[in-house]
Amino acid sequence: MDEEFAGKVALVTGGASGIGLAVAKRLGAGGATVVVADRDQEGALKAVNELEIDGAKAAAVALDVADAASVKDAVHFTVETYGALHLAVNNAGISVPPAPIGETDPETWRRVIDINLSGVFYSLRYELPEIVQAGGGAVVNMASILGTNGFAGAAAYVAAKHGVVGLTKTAALEYAAQGVRINAVGPGFIDTPLLKEADQEKRELLISLHPEGRLGRAEEVAEVTAFLLSDKASFVQGSYHLVDGAYSAR
Ligand SMILES: NC(=O)c1ccc[n+]([C@@H]2O[C@H](COP(=O)([O-])OP(=O)(O)OC[C@H]3O[C@@H](n4cnc5c(N)ncnc54)[C@H](O)[C@@H]3O)[C@@H](O)[C@H]2O)c1
Repeated sequence: MDEEFAGKVALVTGGASGIGLAVAKRLGAGGATVVVADRDQEGALKAVNELEIDGAKAAAVALDVADAASVKDAVHFTVETYGALHLAVNNAGISVPPAPIGETDPETWRRVIDINLSGVFYSLRYELPEIVQAGGGAVVNMASILGTNGFAGAAAYVAAKHGVVGLTKTAALEYAAQGVRINAVGPGFIDTPLLKEADQEKRELLISLHPEGRLGRAEEVAEVTAFLLSDKASFVQGSYHLVDGAYSAR
């Protein structure tokens, strides 16, 4: 086993499914102790089971990233259980059925912003002091290609992901001198349960937007995320990294 994360404790929000699960497995394979934090407790336990079968040390914790107290508790659980926090992947997120702004329910707007943007702020809010306390580390915030591109029908999601990119840059400016590297990843459309509402026609449309001619795989996002968390990325700070099969290159 590659031990690039040996001795490191990692927290992955939304680690029960899709990209977060692939990241949790990749970090576990690299020797990290992984805390899988998710509102889907059954899914988080299943993920931990899979990590343990692969030889990793892991634990599950219930988390709703839209609730600051819940985030505080999950970070506290991590530090209480394993003694420190070095790495964090703020990945939990949702998508909602498409609607133009004029037909978007304000409650839907609020829910997407609460989870996809405020959830990343709450996570950073409680993770960063612990990472500093541990002597430094690294964070990846899961943005999206929609962190820099618009997408008709997804105003709240697009606004939240643009916010995540700005939050990432600001966090890096604030914490670089304290030994914490903070970067964002911008996946293209990735074949995960998040896309479960897309019918065949929508999938084909999404595929056609990627010059690579396919959707991405969660493992491809996990690999870039792991690089950014590793010491190999020692001068990569405050930036946004696309994993999008040239979606944004047009
Ligand atoms: N799949 C894509 O095409 C794609 C593209 C770009 C960015 N992303 C982003 O990647 C991240 C992961 O997406 P995915 O495709 O793996 O989705 P997914 O639905 O497979 O997994 C998301 C996970 O987050 C958890 N979650 C949702 N709300 C939560 C909350 N309030 N508190 C805690 N956990 C919560 C879910 O239970 C689930 O386990 C999201 O931030 C998403 O916006 C996904």
